[in-house]
Amino acid sequence: MSTATLTLNGQDYQFPVTVGSEGEVGINIAKLRAQSGAITLDPGYGNTGSCESAITYIDGEQGILRYRGYAIEEMAEKSSFVEVSYLLVYGHLPSPDELERFTHRLTYHSMLHEDMKKFYEGFPPSAHPMSVLSTMVASLSAYYPDSDKEEEVERNIIRLLAKLKTIAAFSYKKSVGHPFIYPRNDLDFVGDFLHMMFAVPPERYEVSEVIRDALDLLLILHADHEQNCSTSTVRMVGSSGADLFSTISAGISALSGPLHGGANQAVIQMLRMIEQDGGNYQKYIEKAKDKSDPFRLMGFGHRVYKNFDPRARIIEKTAERVFSRLGHYDSLLDIALRLEKIVLKDDYFIERKLYPNVDFYSGILYRAMHIPTNMYTVMFALGRLPGWIAQWREMRDQKSRIHRPRQIYVGPTSRPYVLIDDR
Ligand code: CMC
Repeated sequence: MSTATLTLNGQDYQFPVTVGSEGEVGINIAKLRAQSGAITLDPGYGNTGSCESAITYIDGEQGILRYRGYAIEEMAEKSSFVEVSYLLVYGHLPSPDELERFTHRLTYHSMLHEDMKKFYEGFPPSAHPMSVLSTMVASLSAYYPDSDKEEEVERNIIRLLAKLKTIAAFSYKKSVGHPFIYPRNDLDFVGDFLHMMFAVPPERYEVSEVIRDALDLLLILHADHEQNCSTSTVRMVGSSGADLFSTISAGISALSGPLHGGANQAVIQMLRMIEQDGGNYQKYIEKAKDKSDPFRLMGFGHRVYKNFDPRARIIEKTAERVFSRLGHYDSLLDIALRLEKIVLKDDYFIERKLYPNVDFYSGILYRAMHIPTNMYTVMFALGRLPGWIAQWREMRDQKSRIHRPRQIYVGPTSRPYVLIDDR
């Protein structure tokens, strides 16, 4: 095993080097503080590996994304979201029997406890569906208590995978004041979700195959993305021993921010702004470049991808195909394509390697499916759930220590307390 040497105040310290299966190199500094008294400082964790993981591989320079070794392009073309969920959580592609049993369990655990419907009554209609989603997921722990028994843990995993789409669809129904539509066991996973979202009691709702396939694909593309903000949150919260539902609820909250999953909603708002401004692309590009302006071009840039985001490429191609099959036209797609073209020629974005990410085109596809803008991040959460669960499970199996980073304190040094009359 090779080692790395650190020299600090004239003294050498040796650290083991870990090499991953794709050749990634990590210096294991677990003993750094014990040996030298120093810690590392890496705000934003851009250089810090928090764990070893066998779930997802990303090469940001080459634009590679693989789930358990399988290329995202191949999974997007040949697999289904339910199969990808199985792959991520259990580590291998299911046999036909395993897939059938898994699908059956996801179907038969999709109902919510009737009492949970009362929680929805307490939310104002204006509540963002992401707040409702994280609250409802946390509340599942009141119905399905935590247990150390493996079969109970396994059942809670299935319950969560099966119920999240029901919780999500009910959040939407609450926001538009429609009655909840219960899950149907004769529909497939995505078809059932679309039915719960869009069916209304007075009329029949037929699930469109084109829309179902496109949504299935989007869920596959979002299913895992190694140690991103929400997944790290899941591992962090889970490391304290918190139950599965509370842990995933924390992941949902982390995902909601505009720099993470909330970007898909922000992209559409930005494209609308550009449209309403008469297609004044340059104005928004200049705003994004201006360091005194907090505005950023939403849907551009990524911590890891520095060439292209393979998910964005798949979505861009799918959007054009879905639009032609639906006979749908969306002026925002034209705006997005034009904006991308201009941005990719701009030195500011070229120098910083800022390319469209997964969120740039996903909102345009959701629009074609009539999914309302405030539900886009909920769609992301539905897709990411199997990844969060797989990462949580791996963290538990690794008997991970509680996650507890250190800090470099830069506040005042010791000083005496001053009585209020003397201040
Ligand atoms: N528009 C304008 N400038 C940008 C943008 C952008 N979208 N993204 C990054 N930059 C600039 C940034 O100002 C910085 O410039 P400088 O070096 O001059 O200070 C440089 O590029 C590096 O950016 P950073 O903020 O250090 O990069 P990061 O790795 O910390 O952040 C990011 C990554 C995705 C949060 C960021 O690119 C961003 O805010 N993008 C817009 C939000 C977005 O689309 N988020 C979705 C991410 S993909 C889905 C997901 O996994 O959540």
